[in-house]
Amino acid sequence: MRCGALFLAGLLLGPVLSAAAAEDALSSNGCVPSGELRGDPARGAALHAENCAECHGASGKTDVIVMHMDEPPADQSDPTYMRQLSDEFLYLAICRGGAAVGRSIIMPAWGDYFTDQEIKDLVAFVRTFSGT
Ligand code: HEC
Repeated sequence: MRCGALFLAGLLLGPVLSAAAAEDALSSNGCVPSGELRGDPARGAALHAENCAECHGASGKTDVIVMHMDEPPADQSDPTYMRQLSDEFLYLAICRGGAAVGRSIIMPAWGDYFTDQEIKDLVAFVRTFSGT
């Protein structure tokens, strides 16, 4: 009888809890920059090595050869260039992709892959290339 009651509670609560979790995931990467946009650069470094370095190079200098990339990304270790870009712009470029911020469509949108926090970690790491 006790078991049955717990089982019933699980049936009733299960969908409510998972709906709340799904909503959290959505709002965490809705690509709306808010709060402190520079996260943890160390965690950003690992994500960058796996997902970004193939096009941007390990230190943002685009010292890599990428097939079919007619417009290579600019040198992100150049402080003069990077000072012109706000943290908000970097966040949006990463989350929504190049086309959404008037840049090359080759820059993918990462909002479906990374959480809000992970994108902030990437912003912080990208900033370390230029020290801006
Ligand atoms: C398939 C190649 C490719 C991959 C992978 C890639 N990028 Fe890009 N990225 C580009 C290109 C091309 C541009 C835009 C160049 C332009 O139009 O100025 C760009 C632009 C950017 C910009 C805008 C600022 C700037 O450099 O002018 C940021 C920030 C950025 N990328 C970060 C990242 C991060 C972080 C990742 C990994 C999560 C990533 N990129 C993965 C190709 C790539």
